[in-house]
Amino acid sequence: MPASGALLSIPRLVDAATAEKAAQAGSSQAGKAAGSKSLPGYAKNFLTSDMDGLGPDGKPTGQIATFTGASKANAVAEQAMKHKMKLTKEEQAILDGKEGKEKAKLMKILVQFGNTFGADELVDLGGAPHSNMFIGAGYMASMIKMLDECAKAGLKSYAPYTVNPRPYDVYNVQNNVKDMELIYEGYPLQKDLDYVHVRLGAPDLNYRTCACYLDEVGNAPEPGTYVAWAESSAVNYGNSVLGIRTNRNGAGMDLIQAMLAKAPKFGLMTDEGRKARWLVEIKTSKEPDWGAIGTAIGRKCVEDVPYVTGLDKYFEGGKVTPDNLHLLKAMGSATASAGAVGLYHVEGVTPDAKEKGHDLLVKDYQTYVIDDKEQKRIIDSFPNLWPEKDGDPTAAFIGCPHNTYHEVIKWGTLVTEALDKAGKEEAAIPVYMFMPNPVRDRAIEEHGELISKMKRAGMHATNMCGVSYAGMKGFSERMRGVTNSAKTRNYSSIRYFPDEILVQTIVTGKIPKGA
Ligand code: F3S
Repeated sequence: MPASGALLSIPRLVDAATAEKAAQAGSSQAGKAAGSKSLPGYAKNFLTSDMDGLGPDGKPTGQIATFTGASKANAVAEQAMKHKMKLTKEEQAILDGKEGKEKAKLMKILVQFGNTFGADELVDLGGAPHSNMFIGAGYMASMIKMLDECAKAGLKSYAPYTVNPRPYDVYNVQNNVKDMELIYEGYPLQKDLDYVHVRLGAPDLNYRTCACYLDEVGNAPEPGTYVAWAESSAVNYGNSVLGIRTNRNGAGMDLIQAMLAKAPKFGLMTDEGRKARWLVEIKTSKEPDWGAIGTAIGRKCVEDVPYVTGLDKYFEGGKVTPDNLHLLKAMGSATASAGAVGLYHVEGVTPDAKEKGHDLLVKDYQTYVIDDKEQKRIIDSFPNLWPEKDGDPTAAFIGCPHNTYHEVIKWGTLVTEALDKAGKEEAAIPVYMFMPNPVRDRAIEEHGELISKMKRAGMHATNMCGVSYAGMKGFSERMRGVTNSAKTRNYSSIRYFPDEILVQTIVTGKIPKGA
């Protein structure tokens, strides 16, 4: 989704016929697997997500994700219903209610979750959780109520945790009266949700971000740590670049596991589940378009793990640093939103690949080559979903997942220098720069002059989720956004452009001809 596609206030933008076909494919698969006798109708899609393998033509490829990453039980209902995990005495006691009825209920959910996906056991969690419970929309009411009951019973996360950005910002983005109405109508439970988080262990709204792993935020557990994160881009980055072990948890399941400090071990938490089924060879003649290749990988691999070659030259000495991590953030979040990739390996760069190399590939792996032609084919497949296709852009959205410090300085410099060159002080359209507050604060401290110039140019620093904001009903219909994020493009009607085109567009307010 945003581990979270399902959570956003906007539907995934596929046409209705395509979505219908994919849903039918899912239901027939589940029905067949269950022998059609005991699986109730409402459960038919429980084992799959909306990540349904759409090809570049918008048609289903036939592969449907389980949303958790690889599943040992292959998410087949018949097998899942038979499976039983082994519990320790302590875990059984919790299930039997020895630590209260609320914890017993949580354990019941967790055990069922583990059984469903073929886990053998529960493992203890370390590091700190990351939650994607960030949308206070009406449809989250039952989940918020359940968590509220847990908070009232005194339950808490095993460690202070980070949470995805809020879906709106009432301070920094110059909302008009109509926008403010839309915010309060669209997200009426936001305060209730924030109150739940305060009591469960995530008190400070300054740390709301999807890029929890940035140095300025500090939620980056040690390699090999079992955690139960939610938020597809954070899971994808954490598993791949940090080397932590988490499945792609749905909203709410992250906090259930945080309150029990345990997770069922399956899928991407196991050596077997971290093996790559795809060898992806990047053979572009220049530095690739990271969002485009991520989209290509997501569409091809759906939720399988790819082993990617040809990228080590962009990471000096094979090191991921604060100045280059945005490349993997952009690629990874696109794999996780165009498909449901929860882990990728980059040869010579990411920790699993450095340690095991080609041994990570399964015997019968498939190969996918992305060259200039394939990259162009992917970019050309991005549709123009603006309500008025030939209109001029109304705003730029930069930073999904949230910007790093390096990206903030880079974009500030690019835009203000281009404005200077054009003899302008202000951009033609507002530029929303999404970032965690500690990144904003560091930028102000270290580059105060540039940040002032950015502000005067109409570049707004905000710590909300741009996709949720742009997707508000009533707002999306009148907005023609442009972005550098393939993830934002995937979840909204905002159009994707390479950096140099985006800068020109911001300066002139027009999309350059032929772009
Ligand atoms: Fe972050 Fe929202 Fe994008 S949570 S990854 S800014 S969809």
